[in-house]
This record gives sequence, structure tokens and C-alpha cells, in this order.
Amino acid sequence: MAPGPSLDAALRVAREFDLPSDQVQRGVDEFLSQMAEGMAKNGTNLSQIPTYVTSVPNGTEKGLYLAVDLGGTNFRVCSINLRGDSTFDLTQSKVAIPRDLMVAPSYKELFKFLAKQVESFLETHHNEHFEATVRRRRLTGTTDEYRREEIFDLGFTFSFPVHQTSINRGTLIRWTKGFDIPDAVGQDVCLMLQDAINELHLPVRVAALVNDTVGTLMARSYTSPGKTETVIGAIFGTGTNGAYVEKLNRLTKLNTKGEPAADATQQMVINTEWGSFDNNLSVLPNTLYDQQLDAASVNPGIQMFEKRVSGMFLGEILRLAILGLAKDATARLLRGDGTLIPTDSPLYTPWGIDTSFLSVIEADTTSDLAETKAALFEHFKVSNASTDDAQAIQAIGHAIAKRSARLSAIALAAILIDTKRIDTDETVDIGVDGSLVEFYPKFVDYIREAMREIKGIGEKEKKVRIGIAKDGSGVGAALIALVAHKGYAIESR
Ligand code: BGC
Repeated sequence: MAPGPSLDAALRVAREFDLPSDQVQRGVDEFLSQMAEGMAKNGTNLSQIPTYVTSVPNGTEKGLYLAVDLGGTNFRVCSINLRGDSTFDLTQSKVAIPRDLMVAPSYKELFKFLAKQVESFLETHHNEHFEATVRRRRLTGTTDEYRREEIFDLGFTFSFPVHQTSINRGTLIRWTKGFDIPDAVGQDVCLMLQDAINELHLPVRVAALVNDTVGTLMARSYTSPGKTETVIGAIFGTGTNGAYVEKLNRLTKLNTKGEPAADATQQMVINTEWGSFDNNLSVLPNTLYDQQLDAASVNPGIQMFEKRVSGMFLGEILRLAILGLAKDATARLLRGDGTLIPTDSPLYTPWGIDTSFLSVIEADTTSDLAETKAALFEHFKVSNASTDDAQAIQAIGHAIAKRSARLSAIALAAILIDTKRIDTDETVDIGVDGSLVEFYPKFVDYIREAMREIKGIGEKEKKVRIGIAKDGSGVGAALIALVAHKGYAIESR
């Protein structure tokens, strides 16, 4: 049967999300040049932030550490026992961050909330230690006559762009992923947390500041099988970003004179902040839906790569495309006699589509797309969607996610080419985390497919191993707190 009107129109929209090989290639070329720019100076699209982590672990690290993770919809507190044999035990608690703390005039309430979560975590999971120490600290204040062993070293995974000046110092450059708390910008992130912790007299020292991508890289290195060194840690979740191991002498903007970073390994993990790659849109695609999304975001013109790649935004692009077609009388999407979208449908709510919806419809292989129809009902109160409607929405969702994966390939490939890792004989290991790589069917396959189309990668794509690194923000943060505590760099392999 020929496609009905809604499917025809949808296929036209889906094609707007095609990203042909030559555009991928132009993306890689531009990424390489923006990487170089970010290495030379501050204030560029790709921030290329020095992290002061000067090598990656090898699995023998040991100790008990605390970690907290702020960076998406949830706040996590965990304690991690590194066993020194590539394994670890992890205890964790997780709470959703109240929306009114994410967008607020002052950071005080948010950090107070975070410190409270640390307090209740310690009470619940480390009570023996907690009670005695806190009682003493509350009686005599937080002066440091206590032995260091009484204090937990904490790794703070803070997954926003931070201008880092040492392993536990750094000021917030800008918020992303829907957070907007103006008075925190320019403030030291570790101090904001340490102050709130001190108010509660908790026996905790914020020892390390960690981006989730760096945590992912560290966690993958600690746990990954064999001798292969992990080169990149990347997140494809609510937001997107990548960190990689770089030679110090290429980071020309860093004045290494007298810096602790200029150590024997001569390398450093760099946080690229690739979410802001090509903010000026010289190579990125820019459909009408991308433009609408950006205009309605809290940070127009910023994080333009992220707005086309990461989970927080893909659902919104799909929502805008569906609404566009539903309004178009000739497209006849989700129309019976009138519209099938009830006025109280979350389809009318900005950010009303979660990426999990894209994963569900992509995975639907039933002949009449029953699961897609059920999801339309469950998420958006749309009943009686036709099979054409469901196919139309599936096709657009698929195209948006595939474009995201192909864009992701640009960033990964450029780093492998720039660092020449792709030209060595060894396997190249990339640790990834986030809802897209974890739950979106074939997301990694689409990345690999696009990589093969890139000059300088091609067949060598086979050498690339992409593996999930779970709990990067916990284990990785613990590993970095360990380095900070010991005051030395972990040995390179
Ligand atoms: C932030 C990065 C972070 C990424 C993934 C982006 O919005 O700017 O710092 O690594 O999200 O969580």
C-alpha cells in the first residue's frame, strides 16, 4: 500500500535530519580546528579544559571514598570501596533535584540541599563513624585538630563547564542542561559545596572536582579488561561531552611553569566541553525545529552541538516536529475528524517528551506498531492513532536519533585522529555512559557506521572498542579523590 498522507509528509521531515558523509567529514575537519583553537586560548567554542588529572588508573588503586554527582536530573551520593583488583563496592542513594533549585536566583539553597543529602547518606550508611565525629565537630567547630583519617575525602562530580585551576578548584563558566542559577557563575564550585558541608559540621573534605566524562574515563580505565589504555570518556545522556588524554606540550594555553601538573607523565586529561562545538553553526545542521528549540531554551546560541545530540533535546526536537505536522492540514498527522491530540496532552508542554519515548518507539517491531500507539496513549493521551501516524512518528524519531549518533561520531573520530591513537597498532578503547548509549537501540552501531565514512578512520574503525562504563561519576570521582589525597599522579601504563 502506498504511504498515506501523514507518512508521506513525515518522511519529508525525516529527510531533513539526514546527515550525509560529506557533512560528517566537514564536521570532523571543523572539530579538529576548534580543538586546536581551544588548546591555545580560553573563551573558545571547545573549551579544552585542563583537569589536572595527569594519568589514568590501572586497577590497583585502593581505599574508601565518598562521591557526589550533580549534573542531570538526579543528585547521587555514594561511597566507593576500591578493592585494588579492578573491582569495587558501591553504596549509593539518589534523589531527584527539585526544579525550583535548578532554576533559582541563588545557589545557596541548592548546595544546602546537596549537603543535607550527604548528611543523611552518612547517617544511613556510615553511622558508626558519622555520629561520634559529627558530635565532636559540632561541639568544638570545624577546626582541624582531628586526625585526617576521620575525614572522608569526597570527589565532587559536577558536570557543567568549569574553569579548573587545580584538582579541587574551579569556577563555573556557564550552566547547561536547563540549570540556571546566575549567582553561581564565576564562583568556585568546590567552595560552594564545602561551605554548605561545613555548615552541617560534616566530616567531609571536598578533595576533587570531576567532570562526569573524566570520571567515566577513569572508571573505564580502572575496570576495563586487558592492558588497553582508555583514551576517551564520553557521555551521551541528558547532556553530551567528552574527555581524553592529551600530551601536555600541546596544551599551549596552560602555563606549566611551577604547576603541579608538569609531572613525569607529561600528559593530562582534557575536558573538551564539546557540547558547545560549533556554536556559530558553521557546519552543524540547523532545521526549523533546531531553531525553535534553541530560541525557547534558557541559553540560546550556546551548547549548539549538545542541542542536536543529547537526550534532553532529542525528545523536544521530535515534539516540535510532531506539532508542526499536526498543525499542517495537508499532512494529516494525528487527525481523525478533528485532532487526536487532547488539549491537556503533554505534547503541548515544552520538554514534554522524554528520550525514553524515542527508545521505546525505535524498539517497536510489531507489524501494526502497537507499542508505539500504546506509548502515544500513555505519554501523550493520544488515543486512536493510526498505523500511518505511528509509522510517521517512528520515522521522524529514528531520523533525529540517527543524526545525533552521526554527529557523535564526528567528535569521537576527530579526537582519535588528532591524538593519532587511531594510527597505533593497538585497540583503541572508549568508555561511554548515558541513556542514549545505554538504551537507544543501535545508537553505538550508528556511531560506528558514520566513523567508517570518515577519512583517516575508515577500516580502522574495527580497532575501536566502545564500552559502557557504569558508575563513572562514582568510581571515577573516587579515583580522582584518591589521587588528590595522595598528592601524586597515578602511574601511567
Ligand atoms: C556539560 C558537561 C557534561 C555533559 C554530560 C554538558 O551539558 O556541559 O560538563 O560533561 O553535559 O553530562
